[in-house]
Amino acid sequence: MSRRKILVTSALPYANGPIHLGHLLEYIQTDIWARFQKARGHECYYVCADDAHGTPIMLKAQERGITPEQMIEQTKIEHQADFADFAIGFDNYHSTHSKENRELSTMIYNRLDEKGYIKRKTISQLFDPEKNMFLPDRFVKGDCPKCGALDQNGDSCDVCGATYSPTEVKNARSVISGATPILKDSEHYFFDLPAFSQMLQDWTRSGSLQEEMANKLQEWFKDGLQMWDISRDAPYFGFEIPRAPGKFFYVWLDAPIGYLASFKNLCDKTGIDFDSFWQLDSTAEVYHFIGKDIIYFHSLFWPAILEGADLRKPNAVWAHGFVTVNGAKMSKSRGTFIKARTYLDHLNPEYLRYYFASKLSSSITDLDLNLEDFTQKVNADLVGKVVNIASRCAGFITKRYDGKLSATLAEPALLQEFTDAGNSIADSFEKREFSRAIRDIMALADKANQYIDAKAPWVLVKDEAKQQEAHDVCSMGINLFRVLMHYLKPVLPVMATEVERFLNSELRWDNYQQPLVDHAIEPFKALMQRVDPVKVAAMVDDSKDNLQPAVTVTAKDTLKTIDTTSSAKTAVREPIADTISIEDFAKIDLRVAKIVKAQAVEGADKLIQLQLDIGEGEMRQVFAGIKGAYQPEQLEGRYTVMVANLAARKMRFGLSEGMVLAAGPGGSDLFILSPDSGAVAGMRVK
Ligand code: MSP
Ligand code: ZN
Repeated sequence: MSRRKILVTSALPYANGPIHLGHLLEYIQTDIWARFQKARGHECYYVCADDAHGTPIMLKAQERGITPEQMIEQTKIEHQADFADFAIGFDNYHSTHSKENRELSTMIYNRLDEKGYIKRKTISQLFDPEKNMFLPDRFVKGDCPKCGALDQNGDSCDVCGATYSPTEVKNARSVISGATPILKDSEHYFFDLPAFSQMLQDWTRSGSLQEEMANKLQEWFKDGLQMWDISRDAPYFGFEIPRAPGKFFYVWLDAPIGYLASFKNLCDKTGIDFDSFWQLDSTAEVYHFIGKDIIYFHSLFWPAILEGADLRKPNAVWAHGFVTVNGAKMSKSRGTFIKARTYLDHLNPEYLRYYFASKLSSSITDLDLNLEDFTQKVNADLVGKVVNIASRCAGFITKRYDGKLSATLAEPALLQEFTDAGNSIADSFEKREFSRAIRDIMALADKANQYIDAKAPWVLVKDEAKQQEAHDVCSMGINLFRVLMHYLKPVLPVMATEVERFLNSELRWDNYQQPLVDHAIEPFKALMQRVDPVKVAAMVDDSKDNLQPAVTVTAKDTLKTIDTTSSAKTAVREPIADTISIEDFAKIDLRVAKIVKAQAVEGADKLIQLQLDIGEGEMRQVFAGIKGAYQPEQLEGRYTVMVANLAARKMRFGLSEGMVLAAGPGGSDLFILSPDSGAVAGMRVK
């Protein structure tokens, strides 16, 4: 087997939010593949970085009152800690806001410009006259130009499904300032994507893409490729375009160049030859793992940019599907939008690595993290099958046989069957058919357990005449376990390290076929605890920190359902709840409260911390999940209604002593209640 040179990447996570379990599918998938390649002896590097540029990052930093540089630095530290704790073994983790990326982006842009692939054109775009900035589509809202539905996105309507240009939106407003946008001209820089049409069609058919992806691309080719707008006007957080003051590279131009920048940074630190990976005639292999939402960028723009800049193209771009939790899109209100850190607060990261591996294939289909199935599968497979083999055998070796494996091998044929499976399991890993690899490994684990069941060493050990046989059987069990853990090492690197310590032997592709005979092992310690369903539930509960108002007032919803032009989101009306008695209602102590102070909560995007005066100087602190709809400063001084006798709830950020009433489905569609003027703090609502 010749030694391959391989560079692997995962998509660069945005630096304005936490890593969640959806992201982790990608990093775990890539990590397993990279670990596998390294274990096979190849020269393989796995690099990534934070994607630090763009308008959302700039605005979020502003909102927090810090500089974008401060924000991305802080986020990078958090991202890296999350990745390290999930045993994602990057060889380098960098940032797109780096010296290497600035240099490479400039170099690539200059080459494209020299060859005439950069065109300039003046276009008219919506501009926020208060914020003094052009508005990206998603920062414009207004009424649908097709069906008239109110309060729709700047580029698409949730009600009739139409897509349109933000300039067509009626009653448009800036999401940032609320101002009415004006049209303004500006010169933009475009990358001539159509010039690469033929090259791209050939490339996509050359086996660089999964079939599903190549088919999708055919549709895009049919529609014809468009010039790609790669410039954004100041204010923008990014790199200024050479010879174009006030113009910046659009974040998606310099983001994939971030793959090169991170690798360059690694090369400069270690002496790896960067050019041998990226020059046109490179024999190294380059693979990008990505999610299905960013296929366009990676299979059209990116190869065209590389081609235009005289750099080699990736061997393949591999897309995966999206993670759903319990069969639905991850949802904050259901507690299924689970952050990496929240998971880590409750559960062993290798459970998730195993579960994802057991469901991953080379296809683009979505992957459901069903939490019951997760618990059941990890417990049945890892604890019930794999670890069980060792725990049934190891104790006898330590207690009765001096901690040493037998000098004779009981069942060479069985061991042979286990080691022979290595080729096909390796083939599955290579082809990203991880679920197939896991299925084969678990079938072997069943065989190992059947062998132990049949031999029943716990019976043999009681018979003085059968000591040798008992020793042989237990040693055989340990050897079978060793082969399986060797196969599982890319998936469970932490557990594998503990197993290596236990076995006094490294798990390697060049030694796994030689059994351990007459070999001392260490006393066995529990390698993995069962998944505790109570902890899974606690994780879900903790993920609900974005308090959704539990009492929903239906008056507004009722009005909305009559209004047929309202958006689909608000038209969904909750059914009227079960009838209660007046006594039941009287149990709820509703009070008029004055919002004395309102402030954002560090680390909680959706929460506002409220200090409420509920009369006679009595103050309550409440964390309300209304940040999507209100800025804290809009709330101070207002009166609202709160549940004053709700049991206090301890949250990560402090005690929440009650609840403020609001209506609406959530997000930006939330409306807190106000009493009519004249009401004062402390009045009871009856
Ligand atoms: N910054 C861009 C990528 C630039 S690459 C040059 C981006 N960032 S992201 O943070 O939104 O997503 C990072 C990766 O995570 C993407 O590949 C994306 O598809 C993946 N996922 C984000 N949410 C996901 C799920 N719910 N499920 C699976 N993967 C998901 O896109
Ligand atoms: Zn519409």
